[in-house]
Amino acid sequence: MGELLPSVLISEEQIRARVAELAADIERDHAAGEELLLVGVLRGSFIFLADLARALTMPRCIDFIALSSYENRTTSDGGVRLIMDVRVSVTNRHVLVVEDIVDSGHTLRYLMKAFTARRPASLRSCVLVRKPERLQVEVDVDYLGFDIPDRWVVGYGLDWANRYRALPYIGIVEPDGG
Ligand code: IMP
Ligand code: MG
Repeated sequence: MGELLPSVLISEEQIRARVAELAADIERDHAAGEELLLVGVLRGSFIFLADLARALTMPRCIDFIALSSYENRTTSDGGVRLIMDVRVSVTNRHVLVVEDIVDSGHTLRYLMKAFTARRPASLRSCVLVRKPERLQVEVDVDYLGFDIPDRWVVGYGLDWANRYRALPYIGIVEPDGG
């Protein structure tokens, strides 16, 4: 059985244009010559981060973190755990956390709290897509690609059971064909 091809929600062209706009917004908010540390959240952000990093022209470094989250989110941290940390110190650095998606908001909220404690020079977040209907906790997104409806989206780094990440657009999986 072949994989169903997800229907297009956000096209390659729309993503490319929006990434360029986000890069311009980010550059505008940082002083000339300031170095930015881009922190990608594995694994979903890897394609977005790759395109964003190349759309930027300011001095920039790249690092990654990995998190795990649990279904049981009754704990105060929303069930989020850091399983791989950045290799560099973020203290006194200008940090931009790059996330694929904000759903409940627990993951990004956890991250911003954890990084704030390390006293960066500045800390902002850049998120490809957000599902406003799903938000459970308040979390600031400084740079947002798109707000989307409450549907499971794949592609451009986003997965469904670790599949579809390499799809060039953001699509919706519709197992029932509808
Ligand atoms: P949170 O609920 O905001 O903490 O997001 C938890 C994680 O769920 C995200 O980082 C994604 O990895 C995953 N996720 C939530 N919604 C989707 C989706 O529609 N497609 C793919 N992954 C998703
Ligand atoms: Mg993620």
